[in-house]
Amino acid sequence: MRFVDVRTSKPYRVWIGRGLLTQAGDRIGEACGGESALIVTDDIVNGLYGDSLEQSLLQSGYATSRFVFPHGEQSKNTDTYVSLLGALTEANLSRSDVVVALGGGVVGDLAGFAAATYLRGIAFAQIPTTLLAMVDSSVGGKTAIDLPAGKNLAGAFYQPKVVLCDCDVLETLPEDAFQDGCAEIIKHGAALDAELFALLNEPIQPRIEDIIERNIRVKGDIVALDEWDTGLRQILNFGHTIGHGIEAHSAYSISHGKAVAIGMVIASRGAYRIGLCDEQCHQGILQAVMRYGLPTETALTPEMLIQAAFYDKKRQGQRITLILPEKIGKCVTRSFHVDECATFIRLGMQS
Ligand SMILES: NC(=O)c1ccc[n+]([C@@H]2O[C@H](COP(=O)([O-])OP(=O)(O)OC[C@H]3O[C@@H](n4cnc5c(N)ncnc54)[C@H](O)[C@@H]3O)[C@@H](O)[C@H]2O)c1
Ligand SMILES: [Zn+2]
Repeated sequence: MRFVDVRTSKPYRVWIGRGLLTQAGDRIGEACGGESALIVTDDIVNGLYGDSLEQSLLQSGYATSRFVFPHGEQSKNTDTYVSLLGALTEANLSRSDVVVALGGGVVGDLAGFAAATYLRGIAFAQIPTTLLAMVDSSVGGKTAIDLPAGKNLAGAFYQPKVVLCDCDVLETLPEDAFQDGCAEIIKHGAALDAELFALLNEPIQPRIEDIIERNIRVKGDIVALDEWDTGLRQILNFGHTIGHGIEAHSAYSISHGKAVAIGMVIASRGAYRIGLCDEQCHQGILQAVMRYGLPTETALTPEMLIQAAFYDKKRQGQRITLILPEKIGKCVTRSFHVDECATFIRLGMQS
């Protein structure tokens, strides 16, 4: 079984392999200890994998309970968060017990935020079940819920104690959700790792364990260098300021991965037009997005995206930071005045 160690202030291990779900109880026991475990999951993942996980936890001696909520981004809100805190108190979990997130990025973000805040912090294990959660959201400790004003506006930095990526669960993942994960993989390659980007010229399914491991290494290295997101880590937001605007304005009918894909295309086209990267770089990103069946444009107006950028967490007064490519494998941060940012987004959207 392969693993990657993430060297944050409290280091943890990410396991990658097959059949991990049935060993989850023992691995969580080693990393987290405790007597009780609350499984947090959505209705779809619960139907597929909730029982196997619970069985494994019971066999390892945990007392278990489950909190199941309706799937989808619409659930990543204050209401679900408060209900989850209620479930934690009802299950009587103490500080030495554990929250286990079983699901995609929505489950991980929500469960992680509840784990970070319940009793000021309780042990937390991630079992990502989407490609996106395996290559990105389960690692790095960013947890959050959405507020009516925008994405991820309430959250905490809170690292898991262990992450279990069981590639077997990808077999039930719909194609559409698989594509969302590909958007974050393209992001890692375009922003930080030209060799990874080149690997995307061939179908990734046959080499999925290698691809997941490489993504976790790329992300884990950046997170270890900048755990609290004060500089270098912002590079991982390539495509995200614009992407978050697309997600929020579509009332989350456009998924995170697809919104990020469009955000990367707009950002790279804008970067080409202001002379930051060459046309080949923009075309490379555009082609990769299209190859993985992801969208490249939005029907939203530039004004809508500009307004959303203004609510971005990265805004500092009248300045907005965008992450832009210089070449494949190297993105940089660029700070714009809000008016310049509006011009940039318009440039990036004009075909
Ligand atoms: N914390 C971070 O660093 C970070 C990074 C990237 C994205 N995110 C967040 O992640 C979220 C998106 O995550 P996502 O794309 O995983 O979405 P998701 O959690 O909504 O999962 C997508 C869909 O797939 C279903 N599903 C999950 N696993 C399945 C499986 N194995 N088989 C069948 N169906 C399955 C889910 O029920 C859901 O309907 C967004 O909220 C985004 O903001 C967070
Ligand atoms: Zn993302």
